[in-house]
Amino acid sequence: MPQPTLYERLGSQEGLAALIDKYLEILLSNPAYEELRRQYVNGMAHYRARMLEYLTGWFGGPVLYAQKHGLPKLRENHQRLQITARLRDLWFGCMQQALAESVGDASLRKELEAAFWQMADGLRNA
Ligand code: HEM
Repeated sequence: MPQPTLYERLGSQEGLAALIDKYLEILLSNPAYEELRRQYVNGMAHYRARMLEYLTGWFGGPVLYAQKHGLPKLRENHQRLQITARLRDLWFGCMQQALAESVGDASLRKELEAAFWQMADGLRNA
């Protein structure tokens, strides 16, 4: 039997959508994230759809983002943002809280945190 992917362990589209919705709920309701929130110039519906497509493929599910928009170029797509250590920490803090509130399995949560941290730190550009 092949090992289940992170995507499957998270609960496929439904589990992933719940994580992203939780991230957005925290982002929009906690004043601590105001500086991060201001960066979302294309709106939350656009972000939610893109994140769902991207994370599905990144975690080992169907490569929806690439099928619809071409290969994801995350560094390029974040280039217009000034991602300082502070902004990275805000993003990661918000995602960490969303993981804590939507992923019950502690070892899965740790793996996801590590993957998100590595990617977030790699996107730092200022
Ligand atoms: C390092 C901290 C990060 C910050 C401050 C940040 C910020 C943002 C913002 C503000 C947008 C929306 C831009 C708009 O409205 O057009 C965005 C889009 C996006 N972000 Fe991030 N992000 C970060 C890390 C990440 C990570 C770690 C991932 C993936 C694991 C990610 C994946 C995406 C994707 C897929 C989009 C949709 C746009 C696209 O097609 O590339 N981001 N990000």
